Amino acid sequence: MIVTKNLTRKFGDLTAVDGITLEVKDGEIFGFLGPNGAGKTTTMRMLCCLISKTSGEAQIAGYDIDDPEDSLKIRKIIGLLPENVGLYNDLSAYDNLDFYGKLYECPETQRKENIRHFLELMDLWDKRKVNVGSFSKGMKQKLAIARALIHDPQILFLDEPTANLDPEAAKKVRDFILQLKKEKNTTIFLNTHNLDEAQRVCDKIGIFNTHLLASGTPEELEESVWGEKTIIQVETVSEGIIEALNKLSLLNMVVDNNKITIDVSNGEEENPIIVNAIIEAGGKVQYVNRLSPTLEDAYLKFVRGLD
Ligand SMILES: Nc1ncnc2c1ncn2[C@@H]1O[C@H](COP(=O)(O)OP(=O)(O)OP(=O)(O)O)[C@@H](O)[C@H]1O
Ligand SMILES: [Mg+2]
Repeated sequence: MIVTKNLTRKFGDLTAVDGITLEVKDGEIFGFLGPNGAGKTTTMRMLCCLISKTSGEAQIAGYDIDDPEDSLKIRKIIGLLPENVGLYNDLSAYDNLDFYGKLYECPETQRKENIRHFLELMDLWDKRKVNVGSFSKGMKQKLAIARALIHDPQILFLDEPTANLDPEAAKKVRDFILQLKKEKNTTIFLNTHNLDEAQRVCDKIGIFNTHLLASGTPEELEESVWGEKTIIQVETVSEGIIEALNKLSLLNMVVDNNKITIDVSNGEEENPIIVNAIIEAGGKVQYVNRLSPTLEDAYLKFVRGLD
């Protein structure tokens, strides 16, 4: 559905996007994660045919972003929530949506239905007659999300959709993204800084900083950081316990006060042996916990090169 090959964009001497190759399948939610200035918005703008590429290629639903005729077709089947929402301040919420609906040649009955549906969903129906100039940032953001959906797009590009939203509205938008995928099989390309959001809604994630650094499911990315660790809390860590554990030739062991953190490759097999060794050395085991890497660990590893 979205395919890029060595897609590159330069601004003068600056290479904002360097040779990105990726594929987002039909009905998939793809999260594009990266720090400020990574080139996420630039990538999205190229894919939405708003700016030209410098080199490489990209197809949206089989249409070439570089072909003038194809780019018109792409614009009809995509919805975009841009970084700067760009609504008409002098028009009411309703008229903003009506204007964009007409622009997308959305038939009147469907347009009216969608305007009402999305304004209600975003809790803006009561404000439909109010000029957008007086809206708060979050209200504008919600209206811009409604605008992106007004023509029932097959592919939705969202540039940080929950950036200005309060926690309840952000949750509503996240639930809505999942609902769109489930009910309409909409393909969604999501730029975000919010790792928790990416984890909750994305099927696949690309970690990006000018280059694509890693991609995979959230679970695959987490597992690529480090395996699993076991944390054992004992009443006191004695010399005898350390000696007993050293004999087990463990991968790595860190002792911090009364907590022992051990890297394990197969916890289910290794943990009973470890716990047994501690008990035989006279240790009193209080807690045994599993520590798995998070998406944040993966993000930091790839973006900042941290271990
Ligand atoms: N029109 C432009 N002219 C010159 N440089 C630009 C232009 N647009 C973007 N850039 C540069 O390209 C780089 C990537 O910017 P971009 O907006 O794509 O990053 P981003 O990942 O979306 O960042 P953020 O998380 O802050 O939104 C930045 O260094 C930016 O200064
Ligand atoms: Mg951006």
